[in-house]
Amino acid sequence: MPSLRELLKDLIPGDLLKLVPSSFDIVGSRAGAVAIVEIPEELEPYKRVIAEKIMELHKNVRAVYRKLGERTGEYRVRELELIGGESVREVLHKEHGYLLKLDVTQVYFSPREATERQRVASKVKPGEFVVVMFAGVGPFAIAIAKKQPLVDKVVAIEINPVAYKYMVENIRLNRLEGKVVPVLGDVREEAPKFAGKADRVVMPLPKGAYMYLREAFACFKREGGVLHFYYWDREDDLFKRGFEIVRKSAEEHGFKAELQEARVVSPYAPRVYKLAFDVLLSRRI
Ligand SMILES: C[S@@+](CC[C@H](N)C(=O)[O-])C[C@H]1O[C@@H](n2cnc3c(N)ncnc32)[C@H](O)[C@@H]1O
Repeated sequence: MPSLRELLKDLIPGDLLKLVPSSFDIVGSRAGAVAIVEIPEELEPYKRVIAEKIMELHKNVRAVYRKLGERTGEYRVRELELIGGESVREVLHKEHGYLLKLDVTQVYFSPREATERQRVASKVKPGEFVVVMFAGVGPFAIAIAKKQPLVDKVVAIEINPVAYKYMVENIRLNRLEGKVVPVLGDVREEAPKFAGKADRVVMPLPKGAYMYLREAFACFKREGGVLHFYYWDREDDLFKRGFEIVRKSAEEHGFKAELQEARVVSPYAPRVYKLAFDVLLSRRI
């Protein structure tokens, strides 16, 4: 398959051609998908032809959206501009044997994090009680329940009512009713309802998960468990600060924290990365 840049080489002047993105996100399935692409200001006059060529490359893409700025606000969504195709917003995304329905303009979703979801899901053991905070349309909770069918329960807490609505539908689509328990509301208020129950807590909100560590520690069983913590940091000090925040907070809540694994999930900004920390917690005596 030719690259997007190759397809555009006679349509965009040479000095601008190098600004054509080498990758973009496709959300959806073979039956229908949307593409989400970052286009720099200089390529504004060429955005429609870029969209056309993306649709030529990927015949299942029915709409091409351009990112307008960063994700903002509590719901972590960004503005999108339709630059080609029909105004399709809702898609059925397929990854690793499960389906996720979502509206790309109203909820957070990143197909690039599928590998991270599988990595976390593969750690879950039979009989575990898992709390997924900041659950979005349910990808972590569903990945876990699909990969570990013997999990006791996966509680999934989300504040965006649109994302919650899709999560409820996704639980049904994947036949996980009763296994994944969707909760609409603020982690601050909802997580304490599961105090003392969890073997594992997932915190996929790099912007601010550290502000909810008290709620996370309260969810754990007395003996502790595993915390999956997400954080952004600069490459000069990659894993130090994130783990230190967790370690100190764990201590304040009566737990000893041991770093099991730390990894870069994805680049976030120049020299800044989204990081994942798997932390084993045990009761301090
Ligand atoms: C970075 S997104 C991750 C969504 C999902 N886990 C995923 O991986 O696709 C964070 C999510 O947390 C939700 N959120 C933000 N603050 C929250 C809070 N205080 N309580 C519950 N959900 C919250 C947002 O609406 C958003 O859907």
